[in-house]
Amino acid sequence: MSLVLSVTCGLWAVPPARADMIDTSGMEPWEVCGLCHSLDGNSRMAKFPKLAGQRADYIEKQFRDFHSGNRLNDGGQMEAITTEIDFADLPRIAAYFSALPPPPPFEEEDAAGVDAAVLFREGRGEIPACLSCHDGALPAAPWLEAQHADYVAKQLTDFQTGERTNDADSIMRAVAVQLSADDIVALSVFIAAQQRPERVP
Ligand code: HEC
Ligand code: HEC
Repeated sequence: MSLVLSVTCGLWAVPPARADMIDTSGMEPWEVCGLCHSLDGNSRMAKFPKLAGQRADYIEKQFRDFHSGNRLNDGGQMEAITTEIDFADLPRIAAYFSALPPPPPFEEEDAAGVDAAVLFREGRGEIPACLSCHDGALPAAPWLEAQHADYVAKQLTDFQTGERTNDADSIMRAVAVQLSADDIVALSVFIAAQQRPERVP
């Protein structure tokens, strides 16, 4: 009788499980990123940019900008994540996503009557060619190709309206204010359908 009683009491003494009791010591620091950006860096939802094959320096800069409040157009999600990460791990996290194979391009759709390919490669009037910076030569400029069209359109609109202001010397804001709404749609669809260059080691 006393044995049964002590076993019962023992069971009652077990505390409820708590989130901070989960052992994360065996996890790589980029696994938490995979929840939104996918572990292969090829996110399924347009809300979350694809990070696969992206330039490592760019990934690091954006991460630091979300943390410092220099980039605020994330709806608070990235800012929250930056408080969960040991910054000593950031170079390894950026290197992990950068080294992944680039995402496959989306299928091209009708570019709404605007010659997005010319705008992208050659520019138009005062608008410089996107490729004059986004071709791997300018260290600060990310790869755009094969990104979700809706994400690209959101960034261009955010630069245009001043929601996103972390581009040094307003370099992207100066471009974005010259784009029409049709340009933004056409460019985004065109960009999503392009092959992202393989990483240059
Ligand atoms: C809860 C979802 C979520 C998680 C988890 C998450 N992110 Fe993000 N991340 C976002 C969203 C949303 C954006 C895009 C914000 C916007 O619309 O501008 C973003 C944007 C980014 C960007 C900018 C990419 C670009 O092309 O400009 C980088 C870099 C990034 N995240 C890195 C990370 C890393 C590294 C981790 C893990 C430590 C991580 N994220 C975890 C939601 C998440
Ligand atoms: C003079 C150089 C320059 C030109 C020209 C330029 N960009 Fe950029 N762009 C940049 C830089 C630098 C950044 C990164 C800013 C930062 O640090 O956040 C950027 C960022 C972006 C982003 C955000 C990408 C992401 O993953 O969040 C998009 C989208 C973009 N540019 C599209 C374009 C398009 C479309 C054109 C052509 C109409 C263009 N850019 C022309 C320099 C340029």
